[in-house]
Amino acid sequence: MQVVHTIAELRRHLARFDAPAFVPTMGNLHEGHLALVRQAQQLGDVTVASIFVNRLQFLPHEDFDTYPRTLDADCAQLEALGCDVVFAPSEQELYPEPQGFKVHPPAALADMLEGHFRPGFFTGVSTVVMKLFQIVFGQCKAGGHAVFGKKDYQQLMVIRQMVRQFALPVTIHGGEIVRTDDGLALSSRNGYLTPEERAEAVQLPRALQTLVAAVLGGEHNLAALEQQATDTLTRRGWQVDYLTVRRRADLHPPAPNGFLPGELVALGAARLGRTRLIDNWEF
Ligand code: PAJ
Repeated sequence: MQVVHTIAELRRHLARFDAPAFVPTMGNLHEGHLALVRQAQQLGDVTVASIFVNRLQFLPHEDFDTYPRTLDADCAQLEALGCDVVFAPSEQELYPEPQGFKVHPPAALADMLEGHFRPGFFTGVSTVVMKLFQIVFGQCKAGGHAVFGKKDYQQLMVIRQMVRQFALPVTIHGGEIVRTDDGLALSSRNGYLTPEERAEAVQLPRALQTLVAAVLGGEHNLAALEQQATDTLTRRGWQVDYLTVRRRADLHPPAPNGFLPGELVALGAARLGRTRLIDNWEF
């Protein structure tokens, strides 16, 4: 496995391949990331993972400085998996000058849910992913592949739409959410949780499952169900940003009585102490 830190080195290394399969990450890798790498290994002729904590997608009060940086352990895991190349640029390498050009995703997709609670988040994500795609796929001959987890459901949709609207030569693949045995979605931020909070954290996927079960059971008053779910978590000490049922197609609320299960996704974001967790279930 090659670990490269500069754009020039990466380009040199990828020049002889036709169709890279790419998994962008911010590192501190867990089984959720590794599953995406395994998926990528089936798709292209060379598998590339990137590790870069992207300042542009953090708000000033968020955890950019404390985000776990574990490059050596990450590389060991990727090497064991048989990943071909790790791209781990410094901030100076990726942003040698202030990144004045940015990719602004459409408000109708990016200003709700995560984008509402983290203004500018999807601009930061889209900008770094566009830049990483230019670096990884700039010289690819056959059309590349990139894999993103459904854990970040809205992010996956933003990237799909960006690739479509800019006609980028990349096929986007979604990876299923990897969970612990008790149902918590794996996340680098789970490491912030105290043991008590870790035990409580499963209440987020449970609240979403309760919401899903109620809709599948024929309850169509979504606003009431969402409020109930929010009240339940709030009483347990959570600060809920949103718990909501949306159309998978565009993440907008379904029309009352005009929706079919199979077209929906329940999404949630809530804070436990200082840790913000997100999760979702397609149904
Ligand atoms: P990061 O949070 O490191 O996640 C990297 C990829 O792993 C994302 O596509 C995310 O959806 C996926 N992932 C995380 N937890 C997962 C889980 N439990 N199951 C399946 N997939 C999971 O997302 C980012 O980094 C950044 O925004 C990035 C795209 C790298 C741009 O900076």
